[in-house]
Amino acid sequence: MCSKLGRILIVTMGLAMALALAPTTASALTGPHDLSLAVAIGPSNKLCGACHTPHNAIAGQPIIWAQTISGATFTMYGPTVQGTPTDATPTGTSILCLSCHDGVTTILATGAVMGAGPEVIGVDLKTSHPVSIDYGGVAKGLVAVPSVAKLTTDNKVQCASCHDPHVNTESAYLRGTNVNSQLCQDCHNK
Ligand code: HEC
Ligand code: HEC
Ligand code: HEC
Ligand code: HEC
Repeated sequence: MCSKLGRILIVTMGLAMALALAPTTASALTGPHDLSLAVAIGPSNKLCGACHTPHNAIAGQPIIWAQTISGATFTMYGPTVQGTPTDATPTGTSILCLSCHDGVTTILATGAVMGAGPEVIGVDLKTSHPVSIDYGGVAKGLVAVPSVAKLTTDNKVQCASCHDPHVNTESAYLRGTNVNSQLCQDCHNK
């Protein structure tokens, strides 16, 4: 049975539910970095609060950082074929990302350690593209200045050189498409 009144009721209830579930503001931050359903984040700073806090942020870290910094011992990539060393420990944004993606640090927002799976980068950084490394430019077979990838102000490659943790338009929060390895060739003259 589906009377006219019944249909109106169903439509009204549907609308009410949609309104209740809709976020109050739209954000570019979508995908798994939207941890706003996580119970640990208070309502006043949901969404951004998994990573940034307006006050009492972690001392010594940039961008009013909220997530506990990883205390893990990392194996760094080490000198490349061309002899470029990596920093002794992950620096810049790399240590920020690894504070959730190391697979050992509890993610404050969820109260859990990131489970097994490709999202866990782990503590052996020899199995990942070098980070916390100087961008040597043309002398190292790289383009002078990449156009999509983002170097740090001190001219290094970090996790956020290839990824933007806020924008998941491309897969894997990449700064640009990597179809046909386009992102690789944004830096590499190959
Ligand atoms: C999953 C963690 C995470 C979440 C959630 C997050 N951020 Fe960030 N944010 C970062 C990291 C890591 C950086 C450093 C990235 C870089 O250097 O490009 C950053 C950098 C920034 C910066 C400075 C660099 C820039 O891009 O201008 C601003 C501003 C910022 N975030 C605002 C926000 C706001 C506002 C929200 C909520 C809508 C948010 N972030 C949510 C991780 C996060
Ligand atoms: C506050 C914790 C936190 C921080 C900080 C963080 N992430 Fe994540 N990230 C997550 C979680 C949780 C997931 C989902 C993991 C899963 O699905 O098992 C995720 C997933 C991802 C994914 C997979 C995206 C997809 O669409 O499947 C990428 C790529 C990623 N993160 C990169 C980064 C990078 C790069 C940084 C630093 C610039 C960063 N993350 C910082 C918590 C974090
Ligand atoms: C030189 C570019 C580059 C750098 C630097 C980089 N990544 Fe990635 N990352 C990629 C690309 C490209 C992919 C997509 C791989 C694919 O789809 O096969 C990816 C995928 C990922 C994923 C998703 C894994 C998966 O297979 O779903 C995570 C998580 C991630 N990166 C985290 C990080 C973290 C953390 C750092 C810093 C320690 C980092 N990335 C540094 C290029 C980079
Ligand atoms: C943001 C710029 C940037 C992007 C994007 C980038 N790379 Fe690199 N890559 C570098 C730098 C810097 C080095 C270190 C060069 C040196 O030896 O001085 C490097 C080194 C390498 C090396 C050599 C490692 C060694 O031990 O000598 C390989 C292989 C490599 N990249 C592959 C890739 C691939 C594949 C991609 C795409 C998934 C990629 N790169 C994307 C900047 C980048």
